[in-house]
Amino acid sequence: MDNIAAKAQIEALRELLRENSRRYYVENAPTMSDYEFDQRMHELEALEAQWPEFDDPDSPTHRVGSDISGEFVQRAHRYPMLSLGNTYNIGEIEEFAARADKLLDRSFTYCCELKFDGTAICLNYRDGKLFRALTRGDGEKGDDVTRNVRMIANIPHTLHGDFPADLEIRGEILMPYSAFEELNAEREADGDAPFANPRNAASGSLKLTDPQEVAHRGLWCTLYHIPAESVAFATHDEALRKAASWGLPVSEDRRLCRNIDEIKAFIDHWDTARRDLPYATDGIVIKINESDCQRALGYTAKSPRWAVAYKFKAEQACTPVLSIDYQVGRTGAITPVANLEPVQLSGTVVKRATLNNSDQMELLDIRVGDSVFVEKGGEIIPKITGINLEKRPADAVKPDFPKTCPDCGTPLVRDEGEARWFCPNQDGCPMQIKGRLLHFTTRKAMDILAGEATVEQLYDCGLARTPADFYDLRKQQLICLEGWQERSAQRFLDSLEQSKSVPFERVLYALGIRHVGETKARALARHFGSIDALMEATEAQMLEIEDIGAVIAASVREYLEKSQHRREIERLRAHGLQFSAAAASEAASDALAGKSIVISGNFSISREAMKALIERHGGKNSSSVSAKTAFLLAGSKPGPEKLKKCEQLGIAVIDEETFRAMLPEEKAPNRVAEEQLTLF
Ligand code: IVH
Repeated sequence: MDNIAAKAQIEALRELLRENSRRYYVENAPTMSDYEFDQRMHELEALEAQWPEFDDPDSPTHRVGSDISGEFVQRAHRYPMLSLGNTYNIGEIEEFAARADKLLDRSFTYCCELKFDGTAICLNYRDGKLFRALTRGDGEKGDDVTRNVRMIANIPHTLHGDFPADLEIRGEILMPYSAFEELNAEREADGDAPFANPRNAASGSLKLTDPQEVAHRGLWCTLYHIPAESVAFATHDEALRKAASWGLPVSEDRRLCRNIDEIKAFIDHWDTARRDLPYATDGIVIKINESDCQRALGYTAKSPRWAVAYKFKAEQACTPVLSIDYQVGRTGAITPVANLEPVQLSGTVVKRATLNNSDQMELLDIRVGDSVFVEKGGEIIPKITGINLEKRPADAVKPDFPKTCPDCGTPLVRDEGEARWFCPNQDGCPMQIKGRLLHFTTRKAMDILAGEATVEQLYDCGLARTPADFYDLRKQQLICLEGWQERSAQRFLDSLEQSKSVPFERVLYALGIRHVGETKARALARHFGSIDALMEATEAQMLEIEDIGAVIAASVREYLEKSQHRREIERLRAHGLQFSAAAASEAASDALAGKSIVISGNFSISREAMKALIERHGGKNSSSVSAKTAFLLAGSKPGPEKLKKCEQLGIAVIDEETFRAMLPEEKAPNRVAEEQLTLF
């Protein structure tokens, strides 16, 4: 390569990396895999080393990717917030250890830890109180997200023990897989684009402008670094032990290693054991443990010389595409799904993989018959990340994205700026109608005992077209249907009856207004207080609520203006559903007033119903056990982590029966196990 070609190549790589870094850190919607990004970065590093005349302090090789979004106040970091050198090659870890051995003239150890795959955070505690939280930003200054960080359940607002007066500690904000799946299911159901992985979801959630919404995202924090300039310790391990003693969340999954063999054993262990962790990790961080050795090795502009990350390659499988289905969601969004030749991946058999939208199909240039690479990134349904072109058969068929709805035949439409195609036949498309009926019954909505099969059957035999039809059903009608008996019909009708006390915010969510997920419905319900007030509200009034944007306001307006929706709301209201927050929030008693209660496991009623019961009696639900928890309400199979935490903090664990005995005038417990009605 001559120097002109080298310069062009260097500039092209810088541009590519900058663009992908922006998509990754700012938009939280990466279009390049981490592996490819890291490989390109290494390519650029090699070229810059070979052609030092083209070096530039602004090159992505010398700067950390910036997450600054412009929505928050920016503040300077007291000490630069750096990145880590990384490699996928164990040989380079051997070289790292050999180099350290050579440069350091005393014996030392390595502290090996998990590399948590979230978004970096810097916390500052003053006099033991959480004072400020900044994102990494560009390494020099970060976004001030203090208000949001205060909403993260395991970040203490106050430290205890012999904490220093001024403490700076850094770590990662994560979204556990369970919260991620819930969030994406909700987004998909609402017609919003799902997050690509838990990391993007964590980072997007940390940058929400409404802290109340952040509180509902189930974020988690783990801390792993106290800059030596902040508080000096003899070793990194000691710093982390002290941080844990002050009540800060620090992972215990770390080990002190004496040599490369012990490092390799740690890596091997976690390469498989990490699959059982409740959150995403993407490698192992190897840090030299002794602070004087860290000092001796120092830093480059971008990362410490005393630490390195070994990254795990995402697990991949390669398998042929048998066919492509086009699913119609309740909002009419069309999602292409590939049916695959079944293949083993991370311990499960994969048969289907999502393709997201037509743009992604074009980008991949996928054909039926192609062998595709599938990866699991914590999602329920794996993703297709690439195509093995070497295996493309001559007769592979390029799929035609449908022009009409695969269910009702209506021509599909795509609004400007939308990645997805939609079936506009909202009122006549059977898949959309069934999708809306099913959404209405889900736990987070009305919590009605009906699964997909029940909804399908009631639709097919003409008994349900809109949710209000459910409430007109009589036992006699149900018993006549195939698979129903007196008992199942009664249980179904009972659950409909119970749904009449579901609070307004969930009723609003259950209506299935596009873009109005659980949290937006809660915000609207709390702000306006009733459906009547919401019906009268202008879009401008809705926009006064934090986190209700123009798209949502327009969607609510459009929904409520339609006469058939107004008729439906009136029918539901006549059946006794809650259309005002005041009526719904009437307390049954104050038996649990001031008590923060954590629930875990399965109960005789759904978890949503249990939470509502706690609130009706004045209690507050909390998702994690802390010193403030009054007690843990444990059903069958409670989470072992929560039990352990209760034991550590001396917090009482009580069962459902004991709990119900605390409540006055609660009706005899409904012992019907909460399962989906199986009719056939
Ligand atoms: S230490 C000065 N430890 O990985 C060194 N970082 O790709 C500070 N990360 O920017 C970082 N787990 O956001 C450290 N156990 C761990 C980590 C970790 C994840 C993140 C961190 C860093 C990025 C580099």
